[in-house]
Amino acid sequence: MKIAMVGSGYVGLVSGACFADFGHDVVCIDKDPAKIDSLHKGVMPIYEPGLAELVAGNVKAGRLTFTTDLAEGIADASAIFIAVGTPSRRGDGHADLSYVYAVAEEIGANLKQPAVIVTKSTVPVGTGDEVERILSEANPGVQFAVASNPEFLREGAAIGDFKHPDRIVVGTEDDWARSVMNEVYRPLFLNKSPILFTSRRSSELIKYAANAFLAVKITFINEMADLCEKVGADVQDISRGIGMDGRIGPKFLHAGPGYGGSCFPKDTLALLKTAEDYEAPTRIVEAVVAVNDSRKRAMGRKVIEALGGMDAARGKKVALLGLTFKPNTDDMRDAPSIAIALALSDAGVEVAGYDPEGMELAAPLMPDVAMQKTAYDAIAGADATVIVTEWDAFRALDLDRVKRIAAAPVLVDLRNVYDPAEVRAKGFTYVSVGRP
Ligand code: UDX
Repeated sequence: MKIAMVGSGYVGLVSGACFADFGHDVVCIDKDPAKIDSLHKGVMPIYEPGLAELVAGNVKAGRLTFTTDLAEGIADASAIFIAVGTPSRRGDGHADLSYVYAVAEEIGANLKQPAVIVTKSTVPVGTGDEVERILSEANPGVQFAVASNPEFLREGAAIGDFKHPDRIVVGTEDDWARSVMNEVYRPLFLNKSPILFTSRRSSELIKYAANAFLAVKITFINEMADLCEKVGADVQDISRGIGMDGRIGPKFLHAGPGYGGSCFPKDTLALLKTAEDYEAPTRIVEAVVAVNDSRKRAMGRKVIEALGGMDAARGKKVALLGLTFKPNTDDMRDAPSIAIALALSDAGVEVAGYDPEGMELAAPLMPDVAMQKTAYDAIAGADATVIVTEWDAFRALDLDRVKRIAAAPVLVDLRNVYDPAEVRAKGFTYVSVGRP
């Protein structure tokens, strides 16, 4: 089957490469010539483990090509995916659908064969109706249907998630679209991944509901962590203790500095806007958004306390390790490190930063932070070392070396990757999240 993927960002590129790997004939389209140019040269526009190899293998096999020309790219495709960005609209938090609609118009103007148009971008309820209206208005004169197929992959684990999803959700009321989507995902059924067909509107809402629910889980355990610190309990035991209940489940119960990234912050906000528009407020999600926002700043205060409070902190130096919103990505969108760095600079603290992949994107977002070549360069002379993101490289720091080169043996571990007793036994002042 020939598949066209319009938008070669995170979701588009990973999905396109994986579909090609399943044996489909895939064209990835993007209007950014620099991106397509670099993809032709085998250079990935994003950092994602395994992606460069997957792309190279499928390009070599002749199943994956790239173009900036949408008309050429969609020619003969039975399924045309829209996988362009839906960022938060400036000012109001609504999802900005201008890219989705522009692509729909261009598809409508150039479609010459029957095709199913599939929105893979995360789009608010009702967007499929509008895409259908735009296409009908363009009147391509061929059969088409519009389906919703949200993507649940995580950055850093994108290929594994795409190839072994917990479920595939397809929203369509059209039998022909259903059969085309069955064909698209047939290779995954062999992996026993279930496919759930729903109405288009339900499918659109499932994506937001899933992300909001995960954000609730994280925020809930973060608040439990704060309570643990007050009452002298251990949040990791709380996570284990509640996670063993099959109704709750053990995942997404790691306390930390608050969620960030390209999805949770923008999707929770967009869900609030939809709820507001339809006068069905989702108060739980409202609270989650507010709690998570204030948590990121609160983590800055936690570091300042570890330095001895506001007065003592002024003029001191802190090493921030891990700047991206999570490990194995270079993505800095809504990363807690940004709010933490700002809170520290505002308090007159000098900040040195290091990240295995994210420094290039981080530097302009935190102009006051002095980026270093290695973790130990950042730690040298620091009055406190702060682990913000749990990259593997920070899980086994040479603590003797840290003690030797730092100005003070203070470790603030915002991801709970170290054993408090072990670190304290080395003579460190150790602060973590929700643990005594
Ligand atoms: C998320 C969803 O998981 C994915 O299904 C959706 O398609 C896109 O959004 P992603 O943003 O890549 O994926 O990262 P994820 O691993 O879900 O982490 C999101 C944020 O939550 C990160 O900041 C992470 O550090 C934080 N997190 C996650 C926690 O603080 N605790 C947890 O237990 C899990």
